[in-house]
Amino acid sequence: MKNILVTGGCGFIGANFIRYVLGETDFTGRIINVDKLTYAGNPENLAEIDKQFPERYYFVKADICDPKAMRMVFERFSIDAVCHFAAESHVDRSIVEPDAFIKTNIIGTFNLLELARFFQDKIILFHHISTDEVYGSLGESGYFTEKTPYSPNSPYSASKAASDHLVRSYGKTYDLPVTISNCSNNYGPYQFPEKLIPLTILNALEGKPLPVYGTGLNVRDWLYVADHCKAVWLIMRKGKPGATYNIGGRCEMRNIDVVRIICDMIDELAPKPGNRPRRDLIAFVKDRPGHDQRYAIDFSKLQSELGWVPAESFETGIKKTIKWYLDNKGWIESVISGEYMSWIKRQYEW
Ligand code: NAD
Ligand code: DAU
Repeated sequence: MKNILVTGGCGFIGANFIRYVLGETDFTGRIINVDKLTYAGNPENLAEIDKQFPERYYFVKADICDPKAMRMVFERFSIDAVCHFAAESHVDRSIVEPDAFIKTNIIGTFNLLELARFFQDKIILFHHISTDEVYGSLGESGYFTEKTPYSPNSPYSASKAASDHLVRSYGKTYDLPVTISNCSNNYGPYQFPEKLIPLTILNALEGKPLPVYGTGLNVRDWLYVADHCKAVWLIMRKGKPGATYNIGGRCEMRNIDVVRIICDMIDELAPKPGNRPRRDLIAFVKDRPGHDQRYAIDFSKLQSELGWVPAESFETGIKKTIKWYLDNKGWIESVISGEYMSWIKRQYEW
């Protein structure tokens, strides 16, 4: 791989991935980051990378749904590999405004696949980033494996499931060298504060209510973002063409416990005058419609075939994450706009 197209590189995981590949691996080629800069994309996430690697990092503001713009990128940069992160990624938004999810996640992925097919003589890999949510919801026991049938429950997960099927079909039908990874919930630096963990951190720091949907007993499998990035890079270099790999944290937690841990850690790291415990801010709110009960990933295929296991525990990962948000107040200011606040308000009017 010499010229990797990374889509959605200004978002949470994409930015961490580009920082990792250019800053911490032996990769010597170029990364071309294409991002439309939606509310979730922030080029500041890569400002240092831009300065540090002027010959190896390029940013193009474009929509993956725009075939002309994307064709120019493939041609101009002689793209030979694709790592496709770009997506509308927030379940709550997909419930309120599903249109963009269908466009970006399905049509956008289709568009990229068509271009990869057109330039097939050059393309050695098309890696598609997906989610464990395509498998639906688990009861109290069991795990998602790569063989679990798809059963998406939200417009977001349905759009991701559709894109996974398209990617797989291009592998089978056109022999395009594709790989897919389905990952559990990520957390860490640069995550937009609409998702549970960064929203809880920010609200706790500002003394605002901490919304917990329904009973707070829904379970997610949390993975520190750097571990996800390492897994993706490993799959891109050593994964089998046509294969799917599940990625997870082996870290199942109930939402209420996640919120309580964050409260206690912030009390310790950033005590408030008066010392009122942050747990007092927890507010149970109306449940998310179609709320999946439990996710848990079996990543034994990735472990046995490629030797990957997560390095961070929730305790170490969440501490790093809270410290990052405490040290990056400027970043928080830059992403919290009026639009953001009005969205958070609308969220509870399901
Ligand atoms: P994010 O919302 O933080 O970032 C998405 C990025 O894609 C943004 O920079 C946005 O501007 C860009 N984008 C959106 N529409 C675009 C378009 N039409 N053209 C070009 N760029 C566009 O998302 P994230 O949390 O970093 O997730 C990245 C990928 O990982 C997604 O595919 C998501 O489904 C998947 N994923 C996320 C998680 C998680 O916990 N966050 C877990 C598993 C899988
Ligand atoms: O599992 C992987 C998925 O994880 C990714 O594919 C998605 O892109 C990512 O957004 C995430 O989806 P979730 O819906 O699981 O993440 P979110 O942070 O929105 O919610 C986590 C849990 O916390 C979920 O059960 C809903 C609950 N929640 C969420 C918010 C935002 C609350 O209780 N309160 C909240 O304010």
